[in-house]
Amino acid sequence: MTRGTGRTVIEIKNLHVAFDGREVISGVDLAVSRGQTLVLMGKNGSGKTVILKCIAGLNDEYSGEIMVGDTGLSSGTKDRPHLAYVFQKGGLFDSMNVFDNVAFGLRRMGMPEDEVARRVEQSLARVGLKGNEGKLPSELSGGMQKRVGLARAVCADPDIILYDDPAAGLDPVLSDSIADLMLEIRDSLKTTSIVVTHDLKVAEKIADTVALLYEGRIVFSGSGRDFFSRENAYARQFIDGDILGPIDIM
Ligand SMILES: Nc1ncnc2c1ncn2[C@@H]1O[C@H](COP(=O)(O)OP(=O)(O)O)[C@@H](O)[C@H]1O
Ligand SMILES: [Mg+2]
Repeated sequence: MTRGTGRTVIEIKNLHVAFDGREVISGVDLAVSRGQTLVLMGKNGSGKTVILKCIAGLNDEYSGEIMVGDTGLSSGTKDRPHLAYVFQKGGLFDSMNVFDNVAFGLRRMGMPEDEVARRVEQSLARVGLKGNEGKLPSELSGGMQKRVGLARAVCADPDIILYDDPAAGLDPVLSDSIADLMLEIRDSLKTTSIVVTHDLKVAEKIADTVALLYEGRIVFSGSGRDFFSRENAYARQFIDGDILGPIDIM
């Protein structure tokens, strides 16, 4: 495989996060190599979004180390590699049309308008939404709204993309097309990604590596192939949805 150099781009060491004295993340270690996709799974409320927010600098209330980038930069420094975040609920502005939604971050960066237009058009073409520039989010299907969110993430040519449940609420065909799109983005833009998903088909398709979060800790970490081989008891129970096993289903 020629993709990636094997260098670590995202590294988390001994992450702890507590809210109101209740520990949600209890010593998590994670690493993602350049050009790779880590799929992060776990039950609802297990802390997946919290981890993404810590990496993105949207939650400073943590202890431990979060390194972003392969030049020894820690998150929060100005020269960190460009990171994009695809929010769980899409995060589109209802009153803005598709063009303006995608352009939002570029304009905030102070990019000249002709360059904004070029990048917005390119990103919309990439996600198959050319011709929808003037539509409002409410005029789009759920799957198209997710694609706008992806276009917004890729338009600034990020090194890292954090996807929070990009296939949530989509039917299997649409989920599969979002998975294909994430693969296409990874391969053409050489992005390093963490993808939170509950969708096992999506996970199996896109995961280079998988981490399974349970009770604040990583209970499985390894290749996608090892995860789906079901040899790990946590992985097996999570995949098969069994009632009996190491995961307390309640
Ligand atoms: N800002 C916050 N204040 C208080 N509790 C929070 C906050 N953010 C998340 N939590 C709690 O942390 C836990 C993990 O949340 P989250 O990361 O959203 O779970 P997941 O994304 O795995 O479904 C939940 O119990 C949630 O209520
Ligand atoms: Mg979440």
